[in-house]
Amino acid sequence: MNLIFLGPPGAGKGTQTKKLIEEFGFIHLSTGDILRQLIRSRDTLGLQAQIYMDQGKLVPDGLILEMIQTKMEKKCGYIFDGFPRTIDQASALDKIVPVDHVVYLFLSHDVILKRLTGRRVCEKCGKEYHIEFMPSSLKDSCELCKGRLYQREDDRPFVIENRLSVYEKQTKPLLEYYHEKLIRIEACGNVLSIDQENIKKIGLSTHKAMSQCCS
Ligand code: AP5
Repeated sequence: MNLIFLGPPGAGKGTQTKKLIEEFGFIHLSTGDILRQLIRSRDTLGLQAQIYMDQGKLVPDGLILEMIQTKMEKKCGYIFDGFPRTIDQASALDKIVPVDHVVYLFLSHDVILKRLTGRRVCEKCGKEYHIEFMPSSLKDSCELCKGRLYQREDDRPFVIENRLSVYEKQTKPLLEYYHEKLIRIEACGNVLSIDQENIKKIGLSTHKAMSQCCS
């Protein structure tokens, strides 16, 4: 089984996909996480991408597709998080693997702003926190590796507005592209209740998720 998680910035795609991975053992492909990892390691592709990311723009399709293809060795068992984000990315993915379900997480503009402005990320391991909803017990340091927590450059209010308008123009058309595979989830509740709804609506059970993963 291959799943896509789609939705505006801050909808909780990363949070929810990480939960399903813990529970069902999917392979996580988050283009945002991969890009931030490349930036941390001063990789050339990462540094090229950073210019777009810091302004809230999409990284060009060519760079994203080159990057994603190097990460895909199997035909199934993937959760795509934040990919595809354009029709061209979606049609390129169709040529690589079949997509079973597309989970669309939606929520209001006010909640999005609160989630994104309060997010903090560990500069060493990338673990995410939220100053109000998921604070670190070590305050400004990561509970896992004691790294310093920082605010993402693109989580500043004016960049968030750019990201939201880019989402409306370039990514929202994917709802129509995937309309036959779409599962709609209202994402304003707590993390566990949204996770339970994902599991129910996707129809996941440990047996099913595993048996649909190819070797
Ligand atoms: P990316 O990292 O993918 O950013 P995004 O899609 O804007 O998504 P976010 O990570 O901001 O939000 P999310 O929906 O994952 O929410 P999260 O779970 O983190 O991409 C960054 C940039 O990289 C893009 O702008 C672009 O430049 C580039 N890029 C990436 N992929 C690309 C592609 N395919 N093509 C071109 N360019 C690409 O949650 C957010 C916060 O809310 C966290 O603090 C979390 O703790 C909190 N939270 C989550 N759920 C809840 C809840 N239920 N209750 C309370 N708090 C919650």
